[in-house]
Amino acid sequence: MSTSSDNNNSNGRGLWGSRLAFILAAAGSAVGLGNIWGFPTAAAENGGGGFVLIYILCIVLVGLPVMLAEMVIGRAGEKNPVGALKHLKPGTPWFLVGVLGVFTGFVILSFYTVIAGWTVYYFIQAAGGGLIVPEGQESAEYFGGLFREMTANPGYEILFVAVFTLATTAIVAAGVQKGIERSIKVMMPVLFILLVLLIGRAVTLEGAGEGFRFYLVPDFGEITWRTAVFALGQAFFSLSLGMGVMITYGSYLRKEECLPSSAGYVVATDTLIAVFAGLIVFPVIFFMAATQAVPLDDLVAEGAGLVFVIFPQILSELPGGTAATILFGAAFFLLLAIAALTSAISLMEVVTAHLVDDWKLDRRKAAWGLGGIIFVLAIPSALSFGAVEWLSEGGRFGISLFDLLYTLTFQLFLPVGALGLAIFVGWAWSLKKASEEIQKGTPNFRLEKLWHFMIRYVAPVAILIILINQIVGILGGD
Ligand code: TRP
Repeated sequence: MSTSSDNNNSNGRGLWGSRLAFILAAAGSAVGLGNIWGFPTAAAENGGGGFVLIYILCIVLVGLPVMLAEMVIGRAGEKNPVGALKHLKPGTPWFLVGVLGVFTGFVILSFYTVIAGWTVYYFIQAAGGGLIVPEGQESAEYFGGLFREMTANPGYEILFVAVFTLATTAIVAAGVQKGIERSIKVMMPVLFILLVLLIGRAVTLEGAGEGFRFYLVPDFGEITWRTAVFALGQAFFSLSLGMGVMITYGSYLRKEECLPSSAGYVVATDTLIAVFAGLIVFPVIFFMAATQAVPLDDLVAEGAGLVFVIFPQILSELPGGTAATILFGAAFFLLLAIAALTSAISLMEVVTAHLVDDWKLDRRKAAWGLGGIIFVLAIPSALSFGAVEWLSEGGRFGISLFDLLYTLTFQLFLPVGALGLAIFVGWAWSLKKASEEIQKGTPNFRLEKLWHFMIRYVAPVAILIILINQIVGILGGD
């Protein structure tokens, strides 16, 4: 490995110390809360193993080609999404796709940090014995109370948003090698170890077999067009595509590295972790259903309810008493916190790289300034879970500010961005130049023709279908 003092590429920007660092950082972006709670619940609600199969098809046929396209744009453009598109197609409006990407990253950061702050809060609670239900209290009530207390008591929420934003900013400010690469090389192995530890606990629980069956045995009767479209959307979301994370990270990669296999590793890691997360979630849920006669429907809740209310309940009932609750509780929330941190780093890096490349700001100043702004902008989202009525559900926007921003970015801006990027590579830029960029590190790129076909025809149509589906869903109030 050629680490060394070579901290700059031709135009004086950062550079990964190794290809592994790039793959881990990109996988760190992709592996987020969406893998750990999004994918398992999506699978459970859409026909189990059948959904998993369709999801994997979507990942390979559409996700992988678009991921490769983003990496190619980044490495050829040697800049953030705005700068890269300007460099590749000067004097055209294509850079606006990059502007949308940077803007989307900025907005996502402002609410992602809120959930991330919760995971830090719950990690500290879990490690300090806060998941142990006090004598004489009902566990459902206790944990419902804990969650409401956190969201209704903005002081704590804002404190943990601050802690999380500070960590993200410090890492990004320190630079590509000294900040992102160094922290990722510690966090990703820890994430794998925690995952293995939790799977080990989950598969040996009573009811695990039932859980696996529910999760993985295909029920083809439940597979419809809707399921397929949903799987496609989930695949794009999970791979962090559409706003130029892979453009930005790809811009720090050496020309001799192989892009197609790098994209393959990132996609495989993300998918494996999503599938493995289900191996934790389902046995645990079925353990609860088996031992406490809680109706299954109550347990397969979505999102925040599952992670912050139902999961703690189950963790508090694990065999092994207090020690087990503390160990596995802390491990679970640390896993979530790390997954959130490695994603937030990538979001912040996109915006920071834009400020550094295109606004010529000093990296440290750009990152700390951005961190401060994000913190302030996160406060309204933090308050939109009941603390301030007009920002919350049933208030000014109908839905909470958090949900509003989530819907706008994840369901609208990201697919629009992904569509723009696919059309850019497939039609506007030049497939020949794209291939030449790939061939710098991969002299015989065997799947070239297949990739051209996918990025030109299949990906745009697939993304358009996702987009239409999201818009119909939003207008229909889904
Ligand atoms: N992939 C992340 C997850 O699975 C979510 C995500 C989507 C994301 N787009 C992103 C994270 C862009 C960082 C940057 O949870």
